Amino acid sequence: MADEKTAPEIEDYQMSYEDSSDRVPVLWIHGYPLDNTLWDYQIDGLADIARLITPDLRGHGMSEPTAPPYSMATFADDCMRLLDDIGCAGPVVVAGLSMGGYVAFEICRRHPERVAGLILSATRAGADSADTQKARDLSADQAIAEGVAPIAAGMVPRLFAPATYEKEPGLVDFVHEMMLETSVDGMVGACAAMRDRPDSTLDFPQLDLPTLILHGAEDQLIPVSEAEIMHKGISGSKLVVLEGAGHLPNMEMPLEYNEAVRGFLEGFYE
Ligand code: MLT
Repeated sequence: MADEKTAPEIEDYQMSYEDSSDRVPVLWIHGYPLDNTLWDYQIDGLADIARLITPDLRGHGMSEPTAPPYSMATFADDCMRLLDDIGCAGPVVVAGLSMGGYVAFEICRRHPERVAGLILSATRAGADSADTQKARDLSADQAIAEGVAPIAAGMVPRLFAPATYEKEPGLVDFVHEMMLETSVDGMVGACAAMRDRPDSTLDFPQLDLPTLILHGAEDQLIPVSEAEIMHKGISGSKLVVLEGAGHLPNMEMPLEYNEAVRGFLEGFYE
């Protein structure tokens, strides 16, 4: 009688399997103060065309904080270490939303050989103005004194297009909860990283990469004019403005957003 613990050996047995490592790897970097569940609709809608890698930045989501301040280099190097750890050695498409876009520009500066293409969503290339830098410090002080809740409460009314609050209150609550999971150290660290980031418009001439820019027409945090600046500056880039979306176009209009990303990623298989 065969030992029940021993599987029978059949030499020509073929096991069926799926391995997404043959798909274009896309590193999805969330914004502030969010986490990788920002990309749930992309995981659902794009897994057949891309290998999706969705880290939580330091101090955000499930990633432990360390003592602040952080810099864009901290976030960029964390992401590259992750790719090394999971054996993703070749270049990847780097997709960043808002602060994630600032990290994407830093990855291009520090690790250009790791970048096959860029997806820049709801972001800008310019550095902070002096007033915005002061506001970053006030936000950090407030997070230290009062916790993350007042920062989250202050941002929620500006994150979405006006209609999204009416049509999708569940989405608004989901993102609000996501923000509340951010650690105080993560918030303070990210405020310093954003405050001190360099002007990435100076890098435009070096960005000779397939680039897709996506922006909500009703983004209340970063105006669509910032997307137009990137589109003008990054040669060969494609701009898609999503009417009816605010600062989180990938969640507010996931079908349209994913369709644009899919068309872009198809170019990597040609
Ligand atoms: C973000 O959504 O990541 C931030 O609002 C970006 C910023 O404050 O500049």
